[in-house]
Amino acid sequence: MQRIFVSDEKNRAFLEDVFDGVTENAKKKLLLFDEIDSTNDEAKKLFEKKISSLHNTMLVSFSQTKGRGRLGRVFVSPFAKGLYFSFIMEKKYFESDVLTALVAVATSRALESTYKIETNIKWVNDIFFKGKKISGILCEALTDADGNCSRFICGVGINILPYDFSEELRGHVGSVFQNEKADFRDARFSDLISRLYENLLRIQNNGEKKSAIAEYKAKSFLLGKKIFVHPIIGKDESYEARVVAIDDEAHLIVQPENGGTRKLFSGEVSIGSYAL
Ligand code: BTN
Repeated sequence: MQRIFVSDEKNRAFLEDVFDGVTENAKKKLLLFDEIDSTNDEAKKLFEKKISSLHNTMLVSFSQTKGRGRLGRVFVSPFAKGLYFSFIMEKKYFESDVLTALVAVATSRALESTYKIETNIKWVNDIFFKGKKISGILCEALTDADGNCSRFICGVGINILPYDFSEELRGHVGSVFQNEKADFRDARFSDLISRLYENLLRIQNNGEKKSAIAEYKAKSFLLGKKIFVHPIIGKDESYEARVVAIDDEAHLIVQPENGGTRKLFSGEVSIGSYAL
């Protein structure tokens, strides 16, 4: 079965090298691309083609021309500066909120062990390093003709090497390496892919959920903070609130200034006025 897809032959050797370095276990489920529109969209196409055994397939690209973030935003995905991937998972035990949180834990664990760094998580889907977002997650449901969700696509973008982000993003978005001299060898893509794959299998283990959510809470830097909530659904205005807890389903529990308690299922929260 073809595992490597190049749009430009000059990238083949690079991709083959990365593929060779990945663990045998991960190799069985890995598809590597040098460039693609969006790995989430490609995963959807595979699902629509009814390709069998998609469960645990990992589509990794080294650049995306139409990388998508949450809320219709663009996810900037320049060649070999980061890793952009989608992992297809059968819908078994998880709802999408908790799934996003578990994927964040799997990703943060892989980043910490590959690069020996410490990361934090901003509810619900962002991974931060040294105060800047280095990774975002977009989990989407795949539905069959009857509208039933049978699988999830977990799309993750990780900024690894420094890149000249637009002025708007520069203050908020960062990368694992800040040194301009860091190159693809420092990125250790094969190692990262192998660890991500193993961690994404692990979080599907039902017995793992409790400790993963505990880790999610421990890494969450919004707890106790005053934040702005920008509701996405409905006509509610933005409001200020204090974060009092994250529950076991990864919902954010906040106390708005005007009293009461609210449970946030999804949505956008920010500490300052800038919502990433
Ligand atoms: C966010 O921060 O808003 C989520 C970003 C998710 C980006 C990843 S990159 C791989 C996958 N393919 C996409 O088009 N988006 C996700």
